[in-house]
Amino acid sequence: MLTLRLNGVDVRAEEWWSLLETARFYGIEIPTLCYKDGLSPWGGCRLCVVEIGEGENSRLVSSCTYPATEGLVVRTHTRRVIAARKMMVELLLSTCPSSKTIQDLASALGVQRVRFKVDHEDCVYCGLCVRMCAEQMNAKAIGFVNRGGKLQITTPFDRQSDVCRHCGACMYICPACQLRCQGPEAANVVCGSCLSPEPTCTEFYQDQMCYMGAAGGCGTCIREAKKAV
Ligand code: FES
Repeated sequence: MLTLRLNGVDVRAEEWWSLLETARFYGIEIPTLCYKDGLSPWGGCRLCVVEIGEGENSRLVSSCTYPATEGLVVRTHTRRVIAARKMMVELLLSTCPSSKTIQDLASALGVQRVRFKVDHEDCVYCGLCVRMCAEQMNAKAIGFVNRGGKLQITTPFDRQSDVCRHCGACMYICPACQLRCQGPEAANVVCGSCLSPEPTCTEFYQDQMCYMGAAGGCGTCIREAKKAV
């Protein structure tokens, strides 16, 4: 066990805990998007930032990837931390404004407006689908390619993957896909695949993953929904 100072209180933590795990153990809420129990921490969304150190040397780090360290001074809700989280959630909202997950995060942080140009339902590169596929489904069917503005999540060589089992786990965990999939009962159904452990579209939709193109582009789920009623 080690001791660190968390929000002005000396607390004990296991050596292998991250700052996020330590804070959660002591009942402190820290918002997260790209962190999920059961998947390796990635540090992509920066929503979980906390301030470490004191005075001029203090800095922001992502708590999901930063290890609990002996003697570390950590503050989870300073003005600087809150401002950074709000900025991050604004950026996420501008990329994916209809995501219930992101909307809930924005609401919890009191973000009511977005100062950036709003796009529609794009990938926020949280990497959850990639880790889900590799770590829980043991498939590694998708991954990141390119960098910067050309960054993309896709299959090797952008081709239909031989190892994809069409399990739908990537769509299930994706905060961008969930907004487009209103469920087969909804009047505005676009793609209900993420709600089903057996997506209806994957046999038909050439690119396999709906986030790679227009959701519901194949129309399969709409036909299936109509059949069901
Ligand atoms: S939850 Fe820690 S960086 Fe995304």
